[in-house]
Amino acid sequence: MTDFPMRVFSGVQPTGNLHLGNYLGAITNFVALQDKFDCIYCVVDMHAVTVWQDPQALAHNTREVTAAFIAAGIDAKSHIVFNQSQVSGHAELAWIFNCVARMGWLNRMTQFKEKAGKHRENASVGLFTYPNLMAADILLYQATHVPVGEDQKQHLELSRDIAQKFNTDFATAIAEKGFGDQYFPLPEPLITGPAARVMSLRDGTNKMSKSDPSDLSRINLSDDGDTIAKKIRKAKTDPEPLPHEAAGFEGRPEAQNLVGIYAALAGKSGDEVLTEVGGQQFSQFKERLTELAVASLAPVGAEMTRLMDDPAFIDQVLADGAGRARELAAPILHGAKDIIGFIQS
Ligand code: AMP
Ligand code: TRP
Repeated sequence: MTDFPMRVFSGVQPTGNLHLGNYLGAITNFVALQDKFDCIYCVVDMHAVTVWQDPQALAHNTREVTAAFIAAGIDAKSHIVFNQSQVSGHAELAWIFNCVARMGWLNRMTQFKEKAGKHRENASVGLFTYPNLMAADILLYQATHVPVGEDQKQHLELSRDIAQKFNTDFATAIAEKGFGDQYFPLPEPLITGPAARVMSLRDGTNKMSKSDPSDLSRINLSDDGDTIAKKIRKAKTDPEPLPHEAAGFEGRPEAQNLVGIYAALAGKSGDEVLTEVGGQQFSQFKERLTELAVASLAPVGAEMTRLMDDPAFIDQVLADGAGRARELAAPILHGAKDIIGFIQS
């Protein structure tokens, strides 16, 4: 087996309303991985346009995700932060993967079914082939590790299937060109954020999402302290006091979610939190949660606002990251084209 150097890649869509789920499921993990790996963090604007985006809002949201990355502690100098559309290799490799992936594989993707809903015939072709572009994002850098929230697990498995099929379909050419027995690594998902699946504050059975029409369902990274407090106060609960152990969450998804959020923000396990708060009424627990949430998130929100006041600085970060991403990608894309038999000058 070819030994690929460890490299982290992940992406976040600039579709507005960055929330606590993105933060606890993905971004805090991005920050933690920087000490151990070379990391590439991408604002995936080409994925965003698989559903309609207002052009001005798209540009604003691209800068906002970049600001959130930096505010949360990503070091854009030691690692790479850029927006996808500035590096044309993503689209080029995605085309190749459109020809590797099978219709049947994409037909199984639950996110397409959810997003396309009943109007499948009306969904963009890009929404259907979205996972092929995601595989291209990762494999353009031969990345080996991909931190994501739970909802991306199926897409990651598809990326592995694509890498595997490319490696077998072209095995002879890969060996002949001196690349050994594998051209692409099979990327590993890292679903290890402090909370891999944060649920809506209004309905503990739905995940917290950027597109939920109710703003009360999520805590946005841009919310100020008063807004965070209001949303936690209005969060759905049940009349029982908090349980003393995890078994007591049975049939109580909202209680489980709020305790999960508290634990993730405090850096504690759910069991540890329950020994502290078991038996409390929600009113009391919500005060504690508000204090912790405001203390952890308000500084990130404030730093985002400060960075957003200087769009030229953000654009420079993206341009610099895109330049370095292009350099890394160029030989890998060249090799893939060579393997396929595309003549290149
Ligand atoms: P997206 O907003 O879909 O671009 O997602 C960006 C990252 O946040 C991905 O790694 C997702 O898996 C993660 N994520 C999105 N929503 C949640 C959630 N409710 N809980 C945990 N992680 C999430
Ligand atoms: N599909 C991911 C999401 O919606 C975003 C994404 C695009 C991504 N390309 C990626 C995540 C590559 C990890 C690796 O959250």
